[in-house]
Amino acid sequence: MKYDVIHGRLRYISFVILNLLCLFAANTAAAWIYLEKNNFKRYGFDDYKPVMIIMAVIDVGVALCFNTLQRVYRRRKRRELIKNLQHIGISFVTLSVILFSLRQGAEYSRVTVFLAYGIDYVFITGAHVIWREVLRAFRRESGRPTALLMTTDRFVDEGVEELRKLNIDVKYIYLLKNLNINEIDKLPVIKTWEETASVICWEEIERVYIYGLDHQMVPEYLVNACRDMRLKLDLVDFNYRIIDVKTIKTEDPKYGALSFLEGKRDIPFPIRRVYWITETEADLHRGFHAHKMNCQLLYCPYGKIDIILDDGKKKTTVTLDEPGKGLILMPGLWREMVWQQSGSVLCVLASEYYDAEEYIRNYDEFVAYSNKYREAGK
Ligand code: TYD
Repeated sequence: MKYDVIHGRLRYISFVILNLLCLFAANTAAAWIYLEKNNFKRYGFDDYKPVMIIMAVIDVGVALCFNTLQRVYRRRKRRELIKNLQHIGISFVTLSVILFSLRQGAEYSRVTVFLAYGIDYVFITGAHVIWREVLRAFRRESGRPTALLMTTDRFVDEGVEELRKLNIDVKYIYLLKNLNINEIDKLPVIKTWEETASVICWEEIERVYIYGLDHQMVPEYLVNACRDMRLKLDLVDFNYRIIDVKTIKTEDPKYGALSFLEGKRDIPFPIRRVYWITETEADLHRGFHAHKMNCQLLYCPYGKIDIILDDGKKKTTVTLDEPGKGLILMPGLWREMVWQQSGSVLCVLASEYYDAEEYIRNYDEFVAYSNKYREAGK
């Protein structure tokens, strides 16, 4: 963690040095362009030093102020506004300085400031692109790509393992529910979406992966931050998972069993709806649909129900026959439920409110949808 913080700061300092180098180069170029070649020799560094110092102070000051603001407001969806204000701020401050601070009749200074700023803008834009690529290439050579993993504590081990299989090192973990854990297997745990934004903005990682989490839960500003920073945001997802529902039994059977599920820890989506199916007969068949958005957690507190799942390519059957067994279903799965025992109860926790439009009830339409979905995910 310490190394990463130092690494992040060093990276930042390298960009500040790069900016100052660009500034120096731009000023030299501006002076060279403005003055005839012969005259240029007579103008030394001392002549354009004041202009350069003013520009450096403005550059560093304004960038520091607005970078801080951008990082603070990143979470409040005001980034675009701040970004625009930064441009307006830089232009405003620069123009004010040019118009009011320089000596009367200092024609050389005024023109070179304009020229230098134009050239500086081009230099900095180009240099940043190149330097960023150099740093990335260096990092890639010195190891495998690093990633931030967003998941729940139930799926964290699986998620790390899945990424290892893809030759990716997990550098940070974001857990949906913070349990005051600082690290898992020596990997630092991020506790808030804001901290996640900061890791993304400091480019301490190269990729962001979502595992076993409804991707709709990731705030939009984080998705946009990844896009801005050109970080790959990806889902390494499963379409279903069987989970153990914690069940407590006392020694005396007359007390029965108590099972429980905890939001955010066991359930990787917000619960917007709960429903259950009762008064059922054996060999009842229900379902025959898929969802486009809805994530669900199914469990059967009493009886025995087969859940036949179909992802458009292959079928699997999961039998729910004990209160301690839960089945998480992500969207895009065709399901059929078969009651094996009369009176069996099916309980469902769902991520979405009921919306008939969100169902796919025609099998052919589902196959076409899932193929398209798969193509899009490639
Ligand atoms: P349906 O989805 O057809 O059940 P299944 O697929 O298990 O056979 O739902 C049956 C009826 O209940 C249908 O008219 C819609 C209604 N319904 C709601 O109004 N809200 C809900 O949350 C659910 C699940 C169903």
